Amino acid sequence: MTDRQPHPRILVFAGSSRAGSYNKALARLAAERIEHLGGRPTFIDLRDHPMPLYDGDLETEQGLPESARVLRRGLADHEGLLIASPEYNGFITPLLKNTLDWLTRPHEGESGLTLFQGKLAAVVSASPGGLGGIRSLGLARQLLANIGVTVLPDQLAVARAAEAFDEAGRLRDETQGEKLDAICGRLVDSLHRLHG
Ligand SMILES: Cc1cc2nc3c(=O)[nH]c(=O)nc-3n(C[C@H](O)[C@H](O)[C@H](O)COP(=O)(O)O)c2cc1C
Repeated sequence: MTDRQPHPRILVFAGSSRAGSYNKALARLAAERIEHLGGRPTFIDLRDHPMPLYDGDLETEQGLPESARVLRRGLADHEGLLIASPEYNGFITPLLKNTLDWLTRPHEGESGLTLFQGKLAAVVSASPGGLGGIRSLGLARQLLANIGVTVLPDQLAVARAAEAFDEAGRLRDETQGEKLDAICGRLVDSLHRLHG
């Protein structure tokens, strides 16, 4: 896109559908910080966009699930992504992988990959464990790079997530809050430079 975007649009979501998800909490907080820092975030909950496990036969018979079509349109309207990636057995979640798999499939003559190419992303994670889900971040980066997304080097892994958020949904640890702000600010500024 070439239009000047005074407030870069950033799609924000977590790779968890769980109601009490720490990664959704982190994504929600990131969306709030992005708005504060001059971006235009859209937080989406993947629970609202259910998709069957990718199956080539299903795709041949029925095409993309309705949720994938809706998300494709949403993706096209945003220049940036912020993804909060939970960690399952050292990997990204099946939900995140499955969602991205469906979104990269061709639809109505357009490759799904063209929707991702040129986008800029940041990745964060949260886990009740001591490493904060950091091992999922390398894999999330790799996947995003494979589909043409540039991922900022900055990242945040919130460990001991069950205790990390206060009642207002903010990070109790000031340094972590500052780090999240720095990541969100870098994403907004970089998108300004790319598209402004
Ligand atoms: C199948 C499975 C595997 C998990 N493996 C890890 C892991 O490797 N590292 C980790 O930090 N937490 C692991 N966890 C714990 C998750 O971090 C925890 O369930 C977390 O709350 C998931 O993110 P959410 O709160 O956003 O749903 C695992 C959980 C499940 C269900």
